[in-house]
Amino acid sequence: MTRKVFVTHRLPGRGIQELAAHCDLNVWMGPGLLPAAQLRDELAGCHGVVCLLTDRIDQDLLDAAPDLRFVSSMSVGVDHIDVPAMSARGIAVGHTPGVLVDTTADTAFALLLAAARRVAEADRFVRDGNWTAANAWSPEFFTGKDVSGATLGIVGLGAIGQAVARRATGFGMEVLAWSRTPRRVTGIEMVGLEELLLRSDFVSVHVALAPQTRNLLDVDRIGLMKPGAVLVNTARGGIVDENALAAALLNGNLSAAGIDVFASEPVSPDNPLLALPNVVATPHIGSATTLTRARMADMAAANAIAALKGQPMPCCVNPQVYR
Ligand code: DGY
Repeated sequence: MTRKVFVTHRLPGRGIQELAAHCDLNVWMGPGLLPAAQLRDELAGCHGVVCLLTDRIDQDLLDAAPDLRFVSSMSVGVDHIDVPAMSARGIAVGHTPGVLVDTTADTAFALLLAAARRVAEADRFVRDGNWTAANAWSPEFFTGKDVSGATLGIVGLGAIGQAVARRATGFGMEVLAWSRTPRRVTGIEMVGLEELLLRSDFVSVHVALAPQTRNLLDVDRIGLMKPGAVLVNTARGGIVDENALAAALLNGNLSAAGIDVFASEPVSPDNPLLALPNVVATPHIGSATTLTRARMADMAAANAIAALKGQPMPCCVNPQVYR
């Protein structure tokens, strides 16, 4: 009997066509994102689901999907999936690490530079017609913060953190890092998290969101950051206390922030960070290049195909389900 697989969004790349040859494939065609209640209905009788980071895959959903054997997410992060609940039911969870490393590191660096040099603020200034004779070039006009020669602190030295470090070295930065998993990387000084926050002119966040990292940069740790420092977050919103960050930016303790990810997405218009001119905000576009998104979709399809063939997924976050 052909098994049913549900895909929660149209996906780029070729993998999805290959996947169609292995199952009875049903793809949500929109418009927009699939509502949670509909995902629940669609999963009844499904053997597998290919999902996005915007789909919550939790115990409640499992209860409505007794036949589910695999979840393949087109994302490296899996904080939208209750992985322990999946493992308890023997459901393999796939994700897409590796292919988005450089693209996400580019985004982090773009935000770092934009925040340091006030690029978004300057762009708004020009477009709003404020660049006039009365508001012309002057020695202190849109002065920002030097990147070259500054110290970058990387919170989480996995593949993306290391890719950011390589970029920083090219910009003449000194690089410190803190990681939950002990690591030794040439040219990077490993330090404790507190020391990193005290010494860094720029801090870039690259840990996964997990119970141990939720609110990692809380009001106390943000309070340790060097005066005038810049915070960049391309990992997950829940890692940083947004209210504490907004307060530190407002009172001038921090000079700027580059934020791609928010605790709640899409971000609410009344999020305090959006009211601040010294915040560069982007809508979770860390991996958003055409090529990288196609590669991620192909990996998600490859994980699903392996699961349908009864093979271990090439990139599985809970391989213990195969033992
Ligand atoms: C992921 O895959 O988890 C990233 O956040 C997407 O940009």
